[in-house]
Amino acid sequence: MKPFVVVANRLPVDASPGGLVSALHPIARSSGGAWVGWTGEPDERPEPFEHEGVRIHPVELSGDDVDRYYEGQSNSTIWPLFHDSVEPPVHRRAWRVAYEQVNRRFAEAAAAASAPGATVWVHDYQLLLVPGMLRELRPDLRIGFFLHIPFPPVELFMQLPRRADFLRGMLGADLVGFQQPLAAQNFLRLTAQVLGLRPDGERVEYEGRTVTARAFPISIDVAEIEALAADPAVQDSARRLRKDLGGDRRLLLLGVDRLDYTKGIDQRIEAYGELLADGIITNDEAVLVQVATPSRMRVDHYRQLRERVEREVGRINGEFGDVGRVPLHYLFQSRTRAELVALYLAADIMLVTPLRDGMNLVAKEYVAARRDEGGALVLSEFTGAHSELSELCGGAFSVNPYDVDDLKRGIASAIAAGPEDLAGRMRRMREQVRAHDVDRWARAFLDTLG
Ligand code: ADP
Ligand code: G6P
Repeated sequence: MKPFVVVANRLPVDASPGGLVSALHPIARSSGGAWVGWTGEPDERPEPFEHEGVRIHPVELSGDDVDRYYEGQSNSTIWPLFHDSVEPPVHRRAWRVAYEQVNRRFAEAAAAASAPGATVWVHDYQLLLVPGMLRELRPDLRIGFFLHIPFPPVELFMQLPRRADFLRGMLGADLVGFQQPLAAQNFLRLTAQVLGLRPDGERVEYEGRTVTARAFPISIDVAEIEALAADPAVQDSARRLRKDLGGDRRLLLLGVDRLDYTKGIDQRIEAYGELLADGIITNDEAVLVQVATPSRMRVDHYRQLRERVEREVGRINGEFGDVGRVPLHYLFQSRTRAELVALYLAADIMLVTPLRDGMNLVAKEYVAARRDEGGALVLSEFTGAHSELSELCGGAFSVNPYDVDDLKRGIASAIAAGPEDLAGRMRRMREQVRAHDVDRWARAFLDTLG
């Protein structure tokens, strides 16, 4: 195998939350590759080290870089803009400058970590300029880029200051991967509209090279989740969870997300509150557990979301709860993977209701965990996972998270569905996820990259 280097904002160390690290770590591990990224702490740059079979090359970010590149341009400009502007993106010149500087630092670190002719795989919206910068430094490399989040419609992308630079940065790669075919099309259309290029099918000529843009829907390590789900200790904790929550008479609904405004957590809780208020469900019959992993807590929109969610949780429990029994358990905590799988096994209904999500791995993890073909998935139309788990196989209960009535309808349908219907749906979703795991995703991308 050719030398292989992953470049991503985050390193696969400690409790790195989120889909990117979950998906890529198994691949870097099995290929014996290197990983260039940030530890997650400011002003810290350990020497390169080995971690679980991966050679780690840390990139340092100062406190100012964290403010401007990470919390600013990455998470207050690009993240909201690329997620349909569900919160208004903020544009600052100083953030753009820092973003460019930090991207250059990543490109230089990647150039230093790559053997001649190596394959370098750059990831996600924090590093859009890296492929172009790296190609200038190292024309001998094979460069791939994958965007884990949605790529916005043309009209929205056009709002981004210095939009041409971001497109040129991405075009530094030989292969640009997206979660959805529509995203690849948006990108190709923009190369024509902004740069005057002439895309032909999924290819576009740029500076004497051919760049391919294509969808590669990401997935999960199915074997890992299935092994956890088969572990007697995990099954025990699932049973204990159910018992603690009131036993089998009480339906267990579950949400597991980073606390992010794209995840539709407040809409989901609002719908649940209305179902209680309407008397469609009661505190004796159902309970919702919402695990919300702390994320980007120094960014205003995230702090505001936390306040909104916690206020609403308090209101619902105050209004519909009883001594020793509340309808909503809210955990603002990170959990181990074994604990998450125990929750997946315990849950009758999994609620995945983002306003926009590139893929959503939690939905796929839930399906992979349900070897018993039990449980039901309520899934937003605006997730990448919806194409596979609903449109393709009719497994999930689709909802429009912007429409509280539709959310309520979706949850009520899942509650009302018969066991045979549910088992059939779960079987179809499991076939899809098991046949398309993260290994296949990575191989498809890397084989195409060549
Ligand atoms: P995102 O990448 O936007 O966070 P995904 O659903 O695609 O959303 O991926 C989230 C990943 O993070 C999943 O692999 C999930 O298991 C993991 N995760 C989410 N919440 C927690 C939590 N509370 N504790 C540990 N892992 C979590
Ligand atoms: C999403 C992004 C990743 C990011 C993760 C966690 O999955 O696509 O790039 O790493 O969220 O967010 P954080 O800001 O903590 O890295």
